[in-house]
Amino acid sequence: ADKTLVESPPMGWNSWNTFYCDIDEELIKDAADAMAESGMKEAGYEYVCIDDCWMAPERDANGKLQPDPETFPNGISALADYVHDKGLKLGIYESAGTTTCQGLPGSLGYEETDAQTFADWGVDFLKYDNCGDHYGLSAVERYTRMHNALEAVDRDIIFSICEWGDNDPWMWAPEVGGDLWRTTGDIKPLWRAQEDLWGNGIIDIIDQNEPLAEYAGPGRWNDPDMLVVGVDLPEYPNLTEAEDRTHFGMWAMMAAPLMAGNDIRNMSDETRDILTNDEVIAIDQDPAGNQATRIQHIRGEDGLSRSVWAKTLANGDRAVGLLNRSDRRTTVTTSAQAVGLEAASCYVARDLWNGTDWQTAGLISASVPSHGLALFRVSSGNPDGTNPFATVSLGDTE
Ligand code: GLA
Repeated sequence: ADKTLVESPPMGWNSWNTFYCDIDEELIKDAADAMAESGMKEAGYEYVCIDDCWMAPERDANGKLQPDPETFPNGISALADYVHDKGLKLGIYESAGTTTCQGLPGSLGYEETDAQTFADWGVDFLKYDNCGDHYGLSAVERYTRMHNALEAVDRDIIFSICEWGDNDPWMWAPEVGGDLWRTTGDIKPLWRAQEDLWGNGIIDIIDQNEPLAEYAGPGRWNDPDMLVVGVDLPEYPNLTEAEDRTHFGMWAMMAAPLMAGNDIRNMSDETRDILTNDEVIAIDQDPAGNQATRIQHIRGEDGLSRSVWAKTLANGDRAVGLLNRSDRRTTVTTSAQAVGLEAASCYVARDLWNGTDWQTAGLISASVPSHGLALFRVSSGNPDGTNPFATVSLGDTE
């Protein structure tokens, strides 16, 4: 694309992580209402995204996709109007194969028709999956086809490539107009993958996305999948509040798209506070567009690690994450020098979970709960500091 629609990582909500195929137009409208009224819109969330299962099992006589007449009786165009009237944007889902992942009509061979349909309906964001028969065509060929079709329509539509990282999409997605691209398989509300449950935990995803930092930047984002903060699925263990915070904080550190996946119509105060934490969102949306890198990796006696993550921000500050992957509370320590800050007599470390400013001569250290993430914004210098040698310390967040 000539201009980027995604100067910063896109933010929104998507139906899949909580609702799977149990969706209809009322849910999407209610989600738009909730986004507008919960403080999410003010915090920067913009895209209301319908995932798989919105369409009828057959194309119409002209080969056009049609919404499921039972669940979307008023059509996508009316839904787009509703979402736009709230000052929000509409996302939709399709697949670069013969079917979607749930067996509905895919776009392969119908790219121009479908791109035109989406534009006519007023769609602003397309999540383009990789299911169905590929007729032997490579991912690059199939995603190029849809890119060309989107370029040909008279509407700006964000192109979200959902190829699960199988064919190194970070190597080619920007060239085929990808604004963001999935780097991993599907996320589930798990800390770590479990043999008896399908899907990746947040730790697995962090490990897969971590080496890809160099590919992210303004206009092109690694997508480590949508958020499971506050997602409550009966068959999964779901995340604890500390794990939810780690998940959200690490996605912000990784400059990931922030697509809430919980039921935003009914969320707890804790979940809303995490999703709308302005200072954490500012780390995600920072104009420099850097993805954090892991600068220290300390393996404990239990074999589980603690790690230090740093992200250079546009104003020269560093966002610093102290991640405790172990099963007990641990102190994790780094320094202003280690995170790349220039020498100064004093630094200010702002705890982004509780808004406290700490002054330090250079040590950045916190007692981090099991599976927790201490998250700081560290800047150089504080002329009126009274206690430059105070150790930064995280409160009990469990
Ligand atoms: C794939 C994608 C998911 C979701 C489902 C829908 O698994 O990776 O994010 O879109 O398809 O069927």
